[in-house]
Amino acid sequence: MSEKKPQAAPAKPKSFGWIAEYVDEHSLLAASRKVRDSGYTKTDAYTPFPVHGIDEALGIKPTILPFIVLGAGFTGLFTALILQYWTNAYDYKYIISGKPFASWPANIPVAFELTILFSAFTTFLGMWALNGLPKLSNPLFNSERFDRVTNDRFFLHVDSRDKYFNRESVKDLLAGTKPESLEEVVEDSSPTALPSVIWLGLGFLFCASLVPVAVVLNMRAGNDENPRWHVFFDMDFQPKKKAQQTTTIFADARIARPQVPGTVARGSLVNEDPFYLGFDPTKQASLNAANNIRLVSAADDKAEKPADTAPDTASEKSATTDPVKADEPAKETPAANPPAPTPTPAATPAAAGGPNLPWITEFPLEVDASLIALGKTKFEIYCSVCHGYAGDGDGLVHRRAEQLQQGYWLPPTSVHDPRIQAQPIGNIFYTISNGKGKMAGYGTVLSPKERWAIVSYVRALQRSRNANIEDVPVEMRAKIEEAKKAE
Ligand code: HEC
Repeated sequence: MSEKKPQAAPAKPKSFGWIAEYVDEHSLLAASRKVRDSGYTKTDAYTPFPVHGIDEALGIKPTILPFIVLGAGFTGLFTALILQYWTNAYDYKYIISGKPFASWPANIPVAFELTILFSAFTTFLGMWALNGLPKLSNPLFNSERFDRVTNDRFFLHVDSRDKYFNRESVKDLLAGTKPESLEEVVEDSSPTALPSVIWLGLGFLFCASLVPVAVVLNMRAGNDENPRWHVFFDMDFQPKKKAQQTTTIFADARIARPQVPGTVARGSLVNEDPFYLGFDPTKQASLNAANNIRLVSAADDKAEKPADTAPDTASEKSATTDPVKADEPAKETPAANPPAPTPTPAATPAAAGGPNLPWITEFPLEVDASLIALGKTKFEIYCSVCHGYAGDGDGLVHRRAEQLQQGYWLPPTSVHDPRIQAQPIGNIFYTISNGKGKMAGYGTVLSPKERWAIVSYVRALQRSRNANIEDVPVEMRAKIEEAKKAE
């Protein structure tokens, strides 16, 4: 293609094709059509404003960018779905609020975001790539007349790289379109390489961009004794305390404060009612055991019944009313009491077998299908993590703890254990309210009704293992008999 031009004295610059100049867009369009019809495809028009129909006149095919973007969008969509499926349903299965592992509705936001993200980047970068950008210099700038392209002139360029390009015939063709001027442009002689300062700057930016990555990798892999580097100091260190932290404000250093003895939070008044206690406090009083009196007086205290047996602080009163052990219980009580976070009986005896109270055996509220359904919901939210969905004590937390083999995990008791089956409902209610041994109480997070609902569901779970034919509705018994015979 390169052609020696005797007139060009200094060297032998390569031709970059011809540019024809026009005074208005109509002549440009007409010339473009002519060039197009002659079969040239490596052509371009330069105009001071957008000219309608120029694409068609030059024979420019519609861009394929939309299809590339469509592909990128689908890639984003499937990346998001596969990522979420892999993490949630395969690599680290984790039940969240009883939802299925692969939950499409939960995947929508991320899938949407990644679809948009991939498409947007592809649109932007694809546009640059398809237009051959960034272009640092253009040989057309060598032409002085070309400067007017941003002002009032229209140019048509036929590139020398066109496969049909022939210097003379292109010149004749363009001359036939009656241009204002016709000029051969030559390849740009200015250096094509980026100036070294720009390389230096880019190199610096690249190195700087590695710093965060290096810092993260160092933190993940290294073992540094020093506290980490805080960028947002005031966000990392806020003047507040979190649960389980310590404090110097209180003598016992605990930041999670127990209920102040003798106070009742608004709306949490616990009456001397088996509904709130799980046992019958009136029967309790007659049993006269030191432990039990403590419990009752604590309950009385909560109920704020000054006229009753315990008008003052629970421990003081019980100590004086207890004829057998005058002082010891009063001393023990404060030590045993604070850890109980529940508003219900504050005195949770730490005795191994738990308190032996006159448990109620009848539900203090109506048990129907909706109550059991509520119990199922709450059990699956609060209890199943440890006790498992069927109550066998094989919940996810338990299984994880077994895996870790740290040695101090106490397996959750199975609700099908004969000992638990034999427990009166009041006892189970009490366990849920106040906890038992290593299990924390749920009295603060579940209303009494919800706790009774869970009791009813625990009973249903237990019954499900010990059902007999009498439990089956009469009309359905025949079906079971049939199934039995078929076996
Ligand atoms: C963080 C794990 C965990 C959660 C959540 C949990 N438990 Fe427990 N549960 C245990 C452990 C551990 C034990 C055994 C405690 C012990 O004997 O020290 C236990 C014991 C029990 C017992 C037997 C008590 C007894 O008399 O021996 C029952 C009943 C019970 N849980 C019911 C429930 C119910 C109902 C819920 C939901 C409100 C629940 N648990 C939530 C861990 C848990």
